[in-house]
Amino acid sequence: MNLLIDHLRHICGDAHVLTHDDPSTDLSAWELDWRKRIRGRALAVVRPGNTAEVAAVVKACAAAGAAIVPQGGNTGLVVGGVPDNTGTQIVLSLGRMHAVRAIDPANLTITVEAGCVLQNLQAAAEAAGFLFPLSLGAEGSCTIGGNLGTNAGGTQVLRYGNTRELCLGLEVVTAQGDIWHGLSGLRKDNTGYDLRNLMIGSEGTLGVITAATMKLYPQPAAQLTAWAAVPSMQAAVELLGLAQQRLGPGLTGFEVMGQFALSLVDTHYPQLRVPLWQETPWCVLLENSDSENEAHARSQFEALLEAALNAGCVSDAVVAENLTQARGLWHIRESITLAQADEGLNIKHDISIPVSRIPDFVAETDALLAHHIPGVRMVDFGHLGDGNLHYNVQAPQGADGNAFLRDYEDQVNTLVFDQVKRFDGSISAEHGVGELKVGKLPLYKDPTALAMMRAVKQALDPQNIMNPGRVLGSEE
Ligand code: FAD
Ligand code: MLT
Ligand code: ZN
Repeated sequence: MNLLIDHLRHICGDAHVLTHDDPSTDLSAWELDWRKRIRGRALAVVRPGNTAEVAAVVKACAAAGAAIVPQGGNTGLVVGGVPDNTGTQIVLSLGRMHAVRAIDPANLTITVEAGCVLQNLQAAAEAAGFLFPLSLGAEGSCTIGGNLGTNAGGTQVLRYGNTRELCLGLEVVTAQGDIWHGLSGLRKDNTGYDLRNLMIGSEGTLGVITAATMKLYPQPAAQLTAWAAVPSMQAAVELLGLAQQRLGPGLTGFEVMGQFALSLVDTHYPQLRVPLWQETPWCVLLENSDSENEAHARSQFEALLEAALNAGCVSDAVVAENLTQARGLWHIRESITLAQADEGLNIKHDISIPVSRIPDFVAETDALLAHHIPGVRMVDFGHLGDGNLHYNVQAPQGADGNAFLRDYEDQVNTLVFDQVKRFDGSISAEHGVGELKVGKLPLYKDPTALAMMRAVKQALDPQNIMNPGRVLGSEE
């Protein structure tokens, strides 16, 4: 393996190949997953500076039979972007490849390198007078390559779709080290199999995304945010229907947050001043993006909330007066993940269910969990507008988090995923499979679909060097 390291240093330069040989080098940033659940050990962290270097690195690894784990911002929540603990895998970090290559205003596209941090991509779009709508709590550190690798969702999916729907073209280094130049900004191209959509969401198991052409949108003339207390999950679903009817495509965000989830934000970040949470089991965050002006947006929003109050699906509401207040409300929503991590270890789920069935799913599954684990605390929140819940299970008050995971993680996952199946849902809506759900996927995914996935993996990566063991498991 020393020969491989020498080869990689020759390709990328000594400074960009980090190993444990130098005891002063701390590789935690690349080896430890965001939730600090798994710490791997890499043979080396390699940081190429351009696509040709990525291709040469992959060729060198393929020749040596070394596995490659592509990594962006390392904010993934399913342990897909860190190496295993064998000390034999190469972490291929795209962090140095962060350039905005081009903006095409007439075509409404932006072409960026994979390591571009999402927030920087949003800022580049804004500076050019456009909106890049993908938005998620990790946007200050996640990268567009990781967003594409996981087909990330976030808080604007309702109107603009997942990362997949925002992508028009890719540049990819294949598992053989060849470069696929697919950076077309075309909205129509029916010349065969859709390789772009195959790569998106493949979690680094089929190739390395090195650049992407993404869609841009006109900036809305006005954006308003409201925070509503709702008496039940059923009421939240009714409010969603009403908002869709009245705001149409103006409804760009619809997030639900349970009382316990908000209590954690209140406990760990009291300065954020969470509104209304003490008086209601659920709160909803709504965003109205208007193409006319703020007065129009406000009158639409107020009429919607009045109708909802009259219909009984909202018990109280506040509309942000200005951008600062709106940002504050969104900040509360985005802080749930951190507050939950501060509270201690927990069992995280990222499920999707048809929206209409979510109230029954939550009521039934809450009751089953409470029966099995007296005192269990449910950290429920998520993208209700997309039917996507982060249905998280926290240990009873005072319980030891490690013991809770050891004793309950598998049975809680089975209970929740069985319920998801019964309600025709998916065990991963937006975070992906990674390593965390790899054992469960065969139990809940259609066997024919799995067989086709295995065939694709075998065809594109016959050596099984691209992120092995993730998505499909280690036997592939
Ligand atoms: P990484 O974590 O580095 O990698 C993720 C996966 O993609 C790995 O399998 C990796 O191998 C692969 N990958 C990375 N780069 C490439 C590449 N260039 N080519 C091929 N494969 C690659 N996710 C959501 O969907 N919605 C949310 O609302 C959301 N909110 C979050 C909030 C917080 C606070 C945190 C910590 C995470 C959140 N996430 C969310 C999860 C995470 O941010 C996303 O999955 C994100 O897309 C990961 O990007 P990354 O650059 O950090 O990827
Ligand atoms: C979110 O919606 O905030 C994210 O997906 C992160 C999480 O599930 O904790
Ligand atoms: Zn989410």
